[in-house]
Amino acid sequence: MTTLFINIKELIQVRESDVMKLSGKDMGILPIIKNAFLLIEDDLIIDFGSMNRVSIKDADKVVDLTDKLVLPTWCDSHTHLVFADTREEEFVNRIKGLTYQEIAEKGGGILNSAKKLQDKSEDLLYNDAVIRIKEIIKSGTGALEIKSGYGLTLDSELKILRVIKKLKENFSIPIKATFLGAHAIPNEYKEKRAEYIQLIIDKMIPKIAKEKLADYIDVFCEKGYFTTTETDLILKAGIKYGLIPKIHVNQFNSIGGVKVGVDNNALSVDHLEVLTDEDLNILSKSDTMPVALPSCSFFLGIPYTNGRKIIDSNIPLAIASDYNPGSSPSGNMNFVVSLACIKMKMTPEEAINAATINAAYALNLSDKVGSISRGKMANFIITKPIKSYSFIPYAFADNCIGKVYLNGKETSAI
Ligand code: NIG
Ligand code: FE
Repeated sequence: MTTLFINIKELIQVRESDVMKLSGKDMGILPIIKNAFLLIEDDLIIDFGSMNRVSIKDADKVVDLTDKLVLPTWCDSHTHLVFADTREEEFVNRIKGLTYQEIAEKGGGILNSAKKLQDKSEDLLYNDAVIRIKEIIKSGTGALEIKSGYGLTLDSELKILRVIKKLKENFSIPIKATFLGAHAIPNEYKEKRAEYIQLIIDKMIPKIAKEKLADYIDVFCEKGYFTTTETDLILKAGIKYGLIPKIHVNQFNSIGGVKVGVDNNALSVDHLEVLTDEDLNILSKSDTMPVALPSCSFFLGIPYTNGRKIIDSNIPLAIASDYNPGSSPSGNMNFVVSLACIKMKMTPEEAINAATINAAYALNLSDKVGSISRGKMANFIITKPIKSYSFIPYAFADNCIGKVYLNGKETSAI
């Protein structure tokens, strides 16, 4: 079955299929075709171009998109969207003056989420996650990564990863699973942290690998969480079982996590709110994608990742939502793109590239999603009638999304 979309005001992010990621100045270029057509067959993009060369009789179905723009769906390469409960009490405490770290020290934060997740059934966790994924699909997300890390026991980490596995099976968007057993040291291991790390290495990783429950391995490499030495050990243990590193670094301090990530060929290093020249230098010589999480900076009131400096150093950059109950209770990628422009001084071209093609790289899915390219999945957004693509980040709390297509099908039924 072929569908031909005609009279598209702007067809955005059109690329040859072999573009995997963009760095530096190339991020400032967003290829578009004005007054375009897009031809899909079943779930794949098969052709596109200017309306001058379209032949309408070629398609089974024709859809007129006069005044509307088309762009690839957002790729969200960093979320923790399987969680047991929201944490608005902590939000209120932060308004009253406590910091994120102080709340964590008082038993809130990640450990609070872990306690609640341990008590919740796999079915209920799954049902809540389904609602969240449907919501983010409506706001234009068409590929996704989800982390564990709110389990922190063998059973609960397996539980959360099994929920992610079921989400992978039941949603048509590509979903990648990341094992984040090293998200925090559980209270009962406070005085014997080496034992918890051994539990991750000896019990959790082998079991998770055996059940094929994860694609990636993550560690929260940060003061008060995991040291660089511990991070290195855990990543190497994961690599031995085929898990690719993709890690949390430099959220509050630069303690050497970027180097550990790059030395272990991490697919991405995420957060980077604090960034040294040494970190930049290491990134510039690597294939690792730096990922900024501007909604986390917005929500916690911490510095934004210096995306300008990263791009101006000729390094690539992706952006993601970090959807989680503690530091970013939103998975809305439109808002992430707006924040990248408004707060990180990225141009709309750079922000859209960061949330599509570079974000696809951070998911290891550049061959399937992230651009309008022949042979890629027909996952795209049709906007409401708007003037130009810069309106998307400009209208920051607005919803410019008209329709979302996944695998060539309109998603209104989801
Ligand atoms: O990416 N920084 C570590 N982990 C999450 C937040 C976790 C939480 O507060 O529940 C993040 O921001
Ligand atoms: Fe995170």
